[in-house]
Amino acid sequence: MKIAISSDHRGYQAKKRIIEMLKNAQHEVNDCGCDNAESCDYPDMARIAAGRVSKSESDRAILICGTGLGMSIAANKLRGVRAALCHDELTAQFSRKHNNANVLCLPADLIGDQLMSLVVNSWLNTDFEGGRHARRIEKIDAIEKDFCEGA
Ligand code: RB5
Repeated sequence: MKIAISSDHRGYQAKKRIIEMLKNAQHEVNDCGCDNAESCDYPDMARIAAGRVSKSESDRAILICGTGLGMSIAANKLRGVRAALCHDELTAQFSRKHNNANVLCLPADLIGDQLMSLVVNSWLNTDFEGGRHARRIEKIDAIEKDFCEGA
């Protein structure tokens, strides 16, 4: 899978670990920064990696900041992006099964390395169920169309 990843300064160390994990699992990883632990702004970093998903340049993106909140709020502004903030394996699985999330947001300050790896694995290895959930995704797309495009 082609996976873009970005973080702000709070997620920088976690990003390095997740990149290694993704490469070991043979994913094609696009590291969209940040490149050091100096303070930076999460919307800038969300824009780059989630932008690749929005433009169909990557299949998925993973965004990491302190709480995951800022990244998810920013990423969900992009067309076609369904960003889910996940704290555990269950939310990761349901974000895929029911919401077809194409961007995973992670809270580096709130969960440890081991749990974060489990969340990423669950998210990457769970498929969208479709069916009635597909109808609901279409309704999300309609909200985007009505309120964000040509408004
Ligand atoms: C940065 O201080 C912090 O606000 C950011 O990492 C994130 O938690 C925002 O939602």
